Amino acid sequence: MVTYIDADQAILKNTGQIRLYGAEAFEGMRKACQLTARCLDALAEVAKPGVTTNEIDRFVFEFGMDHGALPATLNYRGYTKSTCTSINHVVCHGIPNEKPLREGDVVNIDVTYVLDGWHGDSSRMYPVGEIKRAAERLLEITHESLMLGIAAVKPGVRTGAIGEAIQTFAEAERCSVVRDFCGHGVGRLFHDAPNILHYGRANEGPEIREGMIFTIEPMINLGRPHVKVLSDGWTAVTRDRSLSAQYEHTVGVTADGCEIFTLSPGGLDKPGLPK
Ligand code: MF3
Ligand code: CO
Ligand code: CO
Repeated sequence: MVTYIDADQAILKNTGQIRLYGAEAFEGMRKACQLTARCLDALAEVAKPGVTTNEIDRFVFEFGMDHGALPATLNYRGYTKSTCTSINHVVCHGIPNEKPLREGDVVNIDVTYVLDGWHGDSSRMYPVGEIKRAAERLLEITHESLMLGIAAVKPGVRTGAIGEAIQTFAEAERCSVVRDFCGHGVGRLFHDAPNILHYGRANEGPEIREGMIFTIEPMINLGRPHVKVLSDGWTAVTRDRSLSAQYEHTVGVTADGCEIFTLSPGGLDKPGLPK
């Protein structure tokens, strides 16, 4: 049985209880999430052919430092970078390195800043130069699946409504939904209850209530849904090496829907794609 708790009353560890936040928390999350969104906006000018993912990582670190924020991934469970950079068939948790981006790549950049103790978690896909039509189509489908998941959020429905909206759309487009990773509660903790599945049925999962804050971050593949994690312990890739894409927003549940905290201030939610 799932229980809910006033976020101000709860201890700071994931006990499985779902935190309900008030106006002050929403304001703190708005600020952290908007800093993350501004960094993702700026990265549209950085993610170009020839740039290494380590250079992207450094940019994310410096941008955070310049604005009083720390990347949440730094030293998180042994992870040592400021961002995740997941290229082509990498599903998520790609580790920045010295390899340059190449024309035609699609790269997900996932940034989480901690600002005044609040975590702003968001990711977008970046086309590197000219990309193939199939890649462009996958990016469009993945972003649309995220927005359909977000549109399903309102008090009284279950979290399964989000998964159902995403899975129904993605599979109708002959794509597949990755099962091995999910969205999550977020706030003063980076990863908190509940898990937000990107597949399933509307009558599954806990009830969504006003004041909940969580991420939605579907990973959609052109091929089969199965993934494997490489020997570095982080990099998740599609088993069939098919192309994979992901977009992520952090949202807060309101009386009649939700507020997207990580929306792009520059209208760059889909960098390089038609708005
Ligand atoms: N930002 C990722 C998420 O969306 C988590 C990255 S954890 C790391 O939840 F350690 F891989 F960086
Ligand atoms: Co996340
Ligand atoms: Co993220």
